[in-house]
Amino acid sequence: DASDIEKGTYPHYMLKEIDEQPLVTRRIIEKYRNEDGGLTVDAEIVNAVNAADRIYIIAAGTSYHAGLVGKQFIENWAKIPVEVHIASEFSYNMPLLSDNPLFIFISQSGETADSRAVLVQIKELGHKALTITNVQGSTLSREADYTLLLHAGPEIAVASTKAYTAQLAVLSILAAVAAYGKGRSLEFDLTKELGIVANAMEVLCDQKEEMEAIAREYLSTTRNAFFIGRSVDYYVGLEGSLKLKEISYIQAEGFAGGELKHGTIALIENGTPIIALATQEHVNLSIRGNVKEVVARGANPCIITMKGLEEEDDRFVLPSVHEQLSPLAAVVPLQLISYYAALHRGCDVDKPRNLAKSVTVE
Ligand code: G6P
Repeated sequence: DASDIEKGTYPHYMLKEIDEQPLVTRRIIEKYRNEDGGLTVDAEIVNAVNAADRIYIIAAGTSYHAGLVGKQFIENWAKIPVEVHIASEFSYNMPLLSDNPLFIFISQSGETADSRAVLVQIKELGHKALTITNVQGSTLSREADYTLLLHAGPEIAVASTKAYTAQLAVLSILAAVAAYGKGRSLEFDLTKELGIVANAMEVLCDQKEEMEAIAREYLSTTRNAFFIGRSVDYYVGLEGSLKLKEISYIQAEGFAGGELKHGTIALIENGTPIIALATQEHVNLSIRGNVKEVVARGANPCIITMKGLEEEDDRFVLPSVHEQLSPLAAVVPLQLISYYAALHRGCDVDKPRNLAKSVTVE
């Protein structure tokens, strides 16, 4: 719909698209609901997922980061092993495939050439493919056996925001419905928990002043920044660091909390910003231990935690959402912090240098 692609009163598409995330999350719940109010996915797709002995997720950029989180949903709930691959690597260095693989292509645009190259290869091998995309009728959608739509509305800013959270929401629904199809039930009501996520996103989108202050405090003059997290927080950190480098040109890297000390800690100087995510109870102590290691070397820590896990020096506390869905909420402050960092540094937020919205060359 045309109103979806107007900027309205927003200074940038990126900010508008960040703000649309609660609405998109709610729209996805509605689109994947049956008359009884339960979540549903086309039976053919559920059967294809449940017939697979292994799922291969293929994607690039932000969509790859969504795939990493999606792997957790599918493995934890549907109990199917999942591998996540960068499209451009997979096509030249194909791993040994299982006997009955299913390929899931995640692509906002549905046009990424690196992903399409893999799709062509695996179709030649006779394998089935599902594309999760925002664009109906896109190349990856037409050429795959099945499609699930993100229903996020057109995403105009080069840096992907609402498509990422939409990918996570759709992957969570697919994983849950696949689990139900196998006679497994989740320990929680996904529809309800996604609704809570949407509300949390709304609260987060109302905290822009706080995000701007964090960006100013940590990122206005720095040369580099590191994101650390463990478990799914690590994956969210990868996405946060990609957002930051894409639009602010700060050299930003995401690391697994325990990995920084195996080399990169050598880069920590007085005042180096470390954005640490601590939303997962089972790794809370260990990530906080990692923060202490870098603080001892002079780093300036910005700890983002979740209600219930907060400690005295934490910089930002996310509203409580289901732990396994925390990436959908935790990414929102990272998107906003990147946005304001780019703004403060005078960068072209919606059209960063050297980047294209969809990359149709290999
Ligand atoms: C480009 C964009 C990224 C995006 C990636 C994958 O590099 O600049 O923002 O994440 O392509 O795009 P896709 O449309 O396949 O999700």
